[in-house]
Amino acid sequence: MALLKGSNSVSGGAASFSEEQEALVLQSWAIMKKDSANIGLRFFLKIFEVAPSATQLFPFLRNSDVPLDKNPRLKTHAMSVLVMVTVRDTTLERLGATHLKDGVGVAQFEVARFALLETIKEAVPADMWSPAMKGAWGEAFDQMVDAIKQEMKPIACY
Ligand code: HEM
Repeated sequence: MALLKGSNSVSGGAASFSEEQEALVLQSWAIMKKDSANIGLRFFLKIFEVAPSATQLFPFLRNSDVPLDKNPRLKTHAMSVLVMVTVRDTTLERLGATHLKDGVGVAQFEVARFALLETIKEAVPADMWSPAMKGAWGEAFDQMVDAIKQEMKPIACY
C-alpha cells in the first residue's frame, strides 16, 4: 500500500516524507513485524521508565493488579501505535479527543518519540540501524502526532 495515499492519510506532510524514508520504515518494520506485540510492549515499558506517572493516564492501568507486561490492553494500544505509525493511512477521527480526554499531550508524545526510536534501534539488526532510519521513523511519528494534535485544536489551545 502506498503510505501517503488514501482519503484519510496523514498526507499533510507528504512532501517531507520521502520515498527513501518510506522504504527505511518498511524495511525495518518487515523485520520487527513478527515480534511486534513484544516490541510494542517494550516501547511502552520504556515510556514508563522515563515517565512512571504516564501509567496513570491509562484508565485500565489505574488500580490494576495485573503486572504491566501482562496487561493485554496495554499491548493492544502499543500495537496500535506501531501499526498506525508504519501504515500512516488511517482514520484519525476522535483520536485527538481520546488523548486529550485522558490527559495525553505534548510531553507524553515527546517521551513516546524518544522511547519509540530507542526501541526500534534495539529491535533491528545493528547494521540496519542508521541516522537515516532514525530520521525516517522520527518523521513518520511526528506526522502521526501532528495529525492527532490537529484534532485537539478545535477543543483546546496547545
Ligand atoms: C502516535 C502515537 C499514538 C497513537 C497512534 C495512538 C493511538 C491510540 C488509539 C488508536 C487509541 C484508541 C484505542 C486503543 O486503546 O488502542 C488510543 C487510546 C489511548 N491512548 Fe494512544 N496513541 C498514541 C500515543 C499515545 C501516548 C504517547 C500515550 C500515553 C503515554 C497514549 C495514551 C492513550 C490513552 C490513555 C488512551 C485511552 C485508553 C482507554 O481509555 O482505554 N497514547 N491511542
